[in-house]
Amino acid sequence: MNYTITTSPGLEEATAEEIKKIIGVQPVVTPGGGITVSCDLKQITQVLCGSYLASRVLQPLAEFHSWEREVLYTETKAIAWEKIIEEGETFVMDVHGRSDECDYSTAQGMLKIKDALVDRIRDKRGNRPDVNKEDPTHRIEVYFWKGKVQISIDITGEPMHRRGYRVGVPGPAPLRESRAAALLMLAEIDSKVPQHLYDPFCGTGTIAIEAAMILRKIPPANLRYIPKKGFIPKFHETYLATLNEMRAVILPKCPTQIIASDADPEIIPRAKRFAAKARVEEDIIFEVLDYGDQVFNEGVLVSNPPYGERIQTHDQAKELLGDLGRKVKFDSSIERMVLLVPAKLETATGLKPEKKIKWKAGPLDITAARYSLWRGEKA
Ligand SMILES: C[S@@+](CC[C@H](N)C(=O)[O-])C[C@H]1O[C@@H](n2cnc3c(N)ncnc32)[C@H](O)[C@@H]1O
Repeated sequence: MNYTITTSPGLEEATAEEIKKIIGVQPVVTPGGGITVSCDLKQITQVLCGSYLASRVLQPLAEFHSWEREVLYTETKAIAWEKIIEEGETFVMDVHGRSDECDYSTAQGMLKIKDALVDRIRDKRGNRPDVNKEDPTHRIEVYFWKGKVQISIDITGEPMHRRGYRVGVPGPAPLRESRAAALLMLAEIDSKVPQHLYDPFCGTGTIAIEAAMILRKIPPANLRYIPKKGFIPKFHETYLATLNEMRAVILPKCPTQIIASDADPEIIPRAKRFAAKARVEEDIIFEVLDYGDQVFNEGVLVSNPPYGERIQTHDQAKELLGDLGRKVKFDSSIERMVLLVPAKLETATGLKPEKKIKWKAGPLDITAARYSLWRGEKA
């Protein structure tokens, strides 16, 4: 079966690499930014339960070209919807992409597709399925791209980046969980397990919590709601079996000492609460500390330093990164460092990135940059 996997913009290659590690099958990254993979039911549940970087998994139902809305109708009506949406079940439809050069907007196209679906079921069963935006049985995804149309069923349930440990107020500038995991994978913590891992600007602790989960092999789906039964035979049983297999190999203790600190005394209790919810509080030392007072022993530093909301100016951020760079280079035993910084500040530490991932945060170009530090440089 072919599946489409979605992820945050910029993480496509890293997600494809992660999926290859999980199921041993190389996904294809398409020019529009989608990821497709051909695998069996067991493997797709391994992706659903085990991927830290993916957002959603879609099972395509139909793919065709259509510049006219009438073609949308006939192609969609040809899908055996009555076998997918059973009596009494509900659905919701989401639309993405662009419909340039078509005789419909994406919203009009989606309505036409919805009409065809409803008409097909009414013709077959005599009644129409209801739309339920809050808690639908089925999520249908429509993707338009340059006259191409893909209709899929979303089999994810809750978006995969929502791990379930962020309870209550999220924090002033929380990093999306999958983005934090991408920084940690860029730091190669899963293959070169560090002695210590530092986040000296930890905020609500996302990087530290994700690090503990990755290092202890806690499946990212551990706390997430189990997806609904769906329409794929044996999906539920296979998903639960996979999740239990992954839970069975969770390490009882983190092999790395994780130290997460922040100058804001009010944020640390929240970070501790999230860590407790994720069941990794014993793996992380949380401290209220200015980064300048942190002692960095052998290991890696992975962080999302302040920019924008607290450090207001570009010059202040540049100065902070310069100072952090000098400290790490001349007064620490850090071996590798990954920072999430505005693209124009990627060399502000005085170090040259050896590997980068780029994305946008609103209008801002962002770089996740990995820097290697050699002892020779510190002399
Ligand atoms: C962008 S936020 C980090 C968000 C975090 N990754 C999360 O997911 O919640 C930057 C953090 O740096 C902290 N900070 C600012 N100046 C600092 C300093 N001099 N020393 C330590 N922390 C500082 C702020 O309190 C803020 O929590």
